[in-house]
Amino acid sequence: MCGIVAYIGTKPAADLLVEGLKRLEYRGYDSAGVAVLGDHGIAMERAVGRVANVEARVDAAGDIFRGTLGLAHTRWATHGGVTEANCHPHTDDRNDICLIHNGIIENYGALRTWLQERGHTFKSETDTEVLAVLIGELYEGDLEAAVQAALKEVTGAYAIAVICAQEPDTLVCARKGSPLLIGVGSGEYVVASDASAIVAHTTQAFALDDYNVCKLTRDAIQTSTIDNQAVTPKMMQLEMDLEQIELGGHPHYMHKEIFEQPESLRMTLRGRIDKNEGRIVLGGLLSHASQLVRARKFILTGQGTALHAAMIGEYLFENLAKVPTEIEYASEFRYRNPIVEEGTVVAAISQSGETADTLAALTEAKDKGALALGVVNVVGSSISRETDAGVYLRVGPEIGVASTKAFTGQVAALTMMAIFLGRRRLMSVEECRAMLDELELVPEKIERILGSADTIKRVTEKYVNQENWLFLGRGYNYPTALEGALKLKEISYIHAEGMPAAEMKHGPIALITEGMPVVFIANRGAQYAKVLANIEEVRSRGGHVIAIATEGDTEITSLAEDVLYVPDITEPLSPLLTVVPLQLMAYYAAVARGHDVDKPRNLAKSVTVE
Ligand code: F6R
Repeated sequence: MCGIVAYIGTKPAADLLVEGLKRLEYRGYDSAGVAVLGDHGIAMERAVGRVANVEARVDAAGDIFRGTLGLAHTRWATHGGVTEANCHPHTDDRNDICLIHNGIIENYGALRTWLQERGHTFKSETDTEVLAVLIGELYEGDLEAAVQAALKEVTGAYAIAVICAQEPDTLVCARKGSPLLIGVGSGEYVVASDASAIVAHTTQAFALDDYNVCKLTRDAIQTSTIDNQAVTPKMMQLEMDLEQIELGGHPHYMHKEIFEQPESLRMTLRGRIDKNEGRIVLGGLLSHASQLVRARKFILTGQGTALHAAMIGEYLFENLAKVPTEIEYASEFRYRNPIVEEGTVVAAISQSGETADTLAALTEAKDKGALALGVVNVVGSSISRETDAGVYLRVGPEIGVASTKAFTGQVAALTMMAIFLGRRRLMSVEECRAMLDELELVPEKIERILGSADTIKRVTEKYVNQENWLFLGRGYNYPTALEGALKLKEISYIHAEGMPAAEMKHGPIALITEGMPVVFIANRGAQYAKVLANIEEVRSRGGHVIAIATEGDTEITSLAEDVLYVPDITEPLSPLLTVVPLQLMAYYAAVARGHDVDKPRNLAKSVTVE
């Protein structure tokens, strides 16, 4: 989704801003722009397509981009097509105010009409330009005051950074609903939508809160509410280093992150397994442990891959902790007027911690009196700050647009939560120890699967020209089937459907034609025999079966065209293994079809608009 980077300090801003934009490329974008305020006034270049296009224009423009204050933006179109005129930054109609924005100004139509009646003109179709013109209209020699006044008129979501030709030493930022971090260096500040554009310069930062405005000059920070009440920012240390956000020899971030999973899961599990006592230690839940143990119902919510992890969580919570659990798309939960009763706990699952729908669902749940938990990767993110308690994934930055290591981190975190609750409810020490023994072995078992990457690649390439695929699984691996289908469609653009294996007979079986690839998650488990029967149904209609099966299963070889093996594991933990070949299949299919895996069509890494 759109990325913001802004700078005020003593270094040449243009180079730093372009470098920042490159770090934000992973978020997904369709156009980019840079503006610098220097001796020549405001210099601005924008271009459709890659950051490299705007970089070339800034380089060609030369000296007019000399200056130590500026803004840059990667745009992911919401209002108005992908055109240069719609790119950010936007200026007001006097070219004095220059602004970048993430989010959506919902009442931009009414504001635009009001501004037009006052004689203002517009150059683009965007909601953002309306905000720039509004700030210009309200400007009376104090940029911060004009921004505060303008934001009082605005409904919607925003993270903005603004400069003004008359104030060459001031950068003003504000936020409501879209993330914004302020990195604090010595005599310089880097403002960005996420830490990856900041950590090369400083690891000291603070997150701006909703309805807060921050005025940065080269030697001071002043944070206030839009009503001008002073606010003291809470500084934090950014826990990210440059190495973590670089490719490190891998061809793509997605490849890196799939292969990082043994290590990222070790980090998720580290210090949380207490085998002596046969229990899980989750510091982030302890303050609410008794409330959690007495909970009558859990609702697990999220979007996309995070929802698939939540679906596995539902099986884990009900089977291991024996607590009623529901899952729901955050986007639906929010608007459904859900029933939240005494003893309801709502847990938001999110890698970024910034997904607008998930954040809104959590706020709705809290307003209705639920205890709010977060299962989040990004420390200090909006969702993590909204929750009463939670568990961090600790899988490190996920740059690949298609979520991989965050998914296994989410499933591992939910497994630990289920054991944490189960042990306090009715799991015996022995049952718990047995599960912990198996959990500890997961990273090593994933290493074994990654060791067979060449086989997975070879099998995938056999089917890569097929345009329709099915992914089928049962029980714990029904959500895994959904995740396998999502991964394939996201980056290879192959049409794929995932569903419970038994559901196929109720309609989708009509789609099966000669040679259609059907991926079965057919590891040994409670429903293994039933899965075999479903495989027969597909085979008899000409489908080509690719089975994800348990090592040592020879029976399956006579039923499937291709078998990809995963090590044996207790069933509740099996999705942590069975998903890995599916992630690799999606990756190899996309590469074979010539797609840029890290910049998939139309996708944004963090969806910060509803
Ligand atoms: C799929 C994917 C998305 C995200 C979803 C939620 O590969 O990445 O489906 O899982 O947008 O994002 P987070 O977890 O950041 O809330």
